[in-house]
Amino acid sequence: MRNSFTRFIAGRTHPAAEPDGDLIALLDHVQKACKAIAKLAAQGAFKKPATHKLGVKARGEEQMLLDVLANSAMISCCGESGQLCGMLSEEMTDPYRIPEWRRCGRYLLVFDPLDGSSNIEVDTTVGTIFSVLLTPEGMTEPGIEAFLQPGVQQVAAGYAIYGPATMLVISLGAGADAFTLDPDSGSFILTHPNLRIRETAREFAVNASNRRFWELPVRRYFDECIEGAAGPRGLDFTLRWNGSLVAEVHRILIRGGVFLYPRDSKDPKKAGRLRLIYEANPMAMLVEQAGGAASTGRRRILEIIPHELHQRIPVVLGARREVERLVRYHEAYDRGEDIVFEAPLFNSRSLFRSM
Ligand code: F6P
Repeated sequence: MRNSFTRFIAGRTHPAAEPDGDLIALLDHVQKACKAIAKLAAQGAFKKPATHKLGVKARGEEQMLLDVLANSAMISCCGESGQLCGMLSEEMTDPYRIPEWRRCGRYLLVFDPLDGSSNIEVDTTVGTIFSVLLTPEGMTEPGIEAFLQPGVQQVAAGYAIYGPATMLVISLGAGADAFTLDPDSGSFILTHPNLRIRETAREFAVNASNRRFWELPVRRYFDECIEGAAGPRGLDFTLRWNGSLVAEVHRILIRGGVFLYPRDSKDPKKAGRLRLIYEANPMAMLVEQAGGAASTGRRRILEIIPHELHQRIPVVLGARREVERLVRYHEAYDRGEDIVFEAPLFNSRSLFRSM
């Protein structure tokens, strides 16, 4: 019998990841919201206003009508379901307050309702990223602090990807599994159980137009990959960039590779591009659960204690050995060892060749 998402979650009995009734119900509401968002995204040009740009948000990103509609779909499917005590999303400045007449549930839901939404107007992949946290003990009115939990405390994390097929990828802390939406039955069916990321990679993804703004260890990694078989890595790499975190992580979970959105000096006020709580943490959990690694280049992402709701951080994730290499390059640089990396004497590389 085909294993639907609902049956799979309800039957989950791994000792490290056994969901309770509330979590099962909540995840069921999340998958319904994702189906609703997939429908909205698929309407494309038939629903012209959806690709309409609403302007720039207070925090600097451009907002499309579809961002707002996707946010409303998450709120209406999950907000009053009874399992939640609060919600936070990329589209909200402050946490969403669950109406008083609903009991305060065990969980908090954080999400990016439409990641990569600038891809919408060119009909390219977008997605919804989500993460479930426990409501701190004794709390009935979750304030900002309730959401400032490190990623290791996530109870579940996942994303829906709206590509040629709609898929849902989830981890409850014991592996990561992927489901494909069957357009005939309207159910998410388990198609990719127990995802695993190969330790090594030949594909890497980064917005290369930012090269001049990166720190030296990242430039070093990039240049070595670009030099290919003739360079210190002795391997030809393929460079990818979708401009949608969901699409990049999905590619890595399915066929391997590494993704970087490093710190850059374009806007020194920003520590990175991606948001810690509802972008980096859920993706880091999925990647680690599939055997990969996720770091800022200096720290494991899942161990960072957020200090603000919409905090940004640098992200390096995917194939374990590539992430470890990037961490070594950062360490060498921070120790001052790699300072000669771009000195002309060494022809754009330091003496510390491929470690
Ligand atoms: O959420 C931010 C995001 O849209 C990610 O999905 C994506 O990885 C990144 O920004 C794209 O950034 P850039 O505009 O540099 O291509």
